[in-house]
Amino acid sequence: MLEPTIVNQRVVLKSRPIGAPVIGDFAIEQVPAPIPSAGQILLRTEFLSLDPYMRGRMSDVASYAAPVPLGGVMEGGTISRVEASQNRDFTIGDVVLGSSGWQRYSLSDGAGLTKLGRNMSHPSLALGVLGMPGFTAYVGLLDIGGPKPGETVVVAAASGAVGSVVGQIAKVKGCRAVGIAGGADKCRFVVEVLGFDACIDHRSPHFAELLTGACPKGIDVYFENVGGAVFDAVLPLLNARARVPLCGLVANYNDTQLPSGPDRLGLLTRTLLTKRIKMQGFIVFSDYGERYGEFLKQMTLWVADGTIKFREDIVDGLERAPQAFIGLLQGKNFGKLIVRVAER
Ligand SMILES: NC(=O)c1ccc[n+]([C@@H]2O[C@H](COP(=O)([O-])OP(=O)(O)OC[C@H]3O[C@@H](n4cnc5c(N)ncnc54)[C@H](OP(=O)(O)O)[C@@H]3O)[C@@H](O)[C@H]2O)c1
Repeated sequence: MLEPTIVNQRVVLKSRPIGAPVIGDFAIEQVPAPIPSAGQILLRTEFLSLDPYMRGRMSDVASYAAPVPLGGVMEGGTISRVEASQNRDFTIGDVVLGSSGWQRYSLSDGAGLTKLGRNMSHPSLALGVLGMPGFTAYVGLLDIGGPKPGETVVVAAASGAVGSVVGQIAKVKGCRAVGIAGGADKCRFVVEVLGFDACIDHRSPHFAELLTGACPKGIDVYFENVGGAVFDAVLPLLNARARVPLCGLVANYNDTQLPSGPDRLGLLTRTLLTKRIKMQGFIVFSDYGERYGEFLKQMTLWVADGTIKFREDIVDGLERAPQAFIGLLQGKNFGKLIVRVAER
């Protein structure tokens, strides 16, 4: 029998942000943990993934996914342990990958859960390099980017969950990998640990010049993670028949209006036309979900033999999730941002 006193701590959306989210947009609540009925399991969250897409869920503008309702629990990928089970497919102690959101306890009927090994030494990897961000890098670069040996691949947010994997796969494919990241520490990590050929700090006043110098043969694949001023510097460097997997635009997620300055649409479309550039957006699981098994097999091998390295930025305590998420949109994370919700 479950203790009736188990408390569920959860983070709910209190107000829709105008511009950058602030702490007051979130509320932390303590409520009794739910009790599973027939067919259900009670999950205790161990790790919560924080990802830029969550900014979109806080707004109610039309998008590819429904927003979190006001007062609703913030959405998020999780690694959880089965705490109580009324479902014959799950037993107490099972570890599962799912989307319980920003809360300590949740109910599930088992749909959409993936069982992980009970004794996996590093389960949080299923939220990062072996999970959604790694998968995004893999299909976005290989399917849309189509990198060929000797080509130059550029990726921004290069020390982050997606970008770090993009550049390392580019190296596996025999390309020159150039990262863009915020600050000297991140750039050093990208070159010295991840093995990119170069990394340029987008906060440098000489960013455009430095990027040009790092790409002496132009850019064949630009994996777009950020948009904004970074894309302005990339555009003139794109080669004829370049490919641009359009993965994310984190520099714009807090915008409340179109960017100021001259209208650049004409320049963009003329460049795309005259250079015959392919630019394609994608939403990873909607567009490539059936390829997850193939990805996982390959990436597990690459991680095990050290071909692909990863870095996690672990924050302890669910109550710190709002501040950590706000920081993610400002570049304060260094590696895949994960909240450790409970000790294992
Ligand atoms: N399409 C899909 O299915 C899909 C799936 C997953 C992720 N994504 C997208 O992929 C991108 C990367 O996600 P992630 O999870 O790997 O995040 P991440 O790189 O771990 O973290 C976000 C990073 O974005 C950079 N950034 C923030 N504001 C910026 C700005 N104004 N200019 C330049 N860089 C800025 C920061 O890095 P620096 O300090 O280095 O600038 C920050 O650390 C996001 O746009 C995300 O939405 C898309």
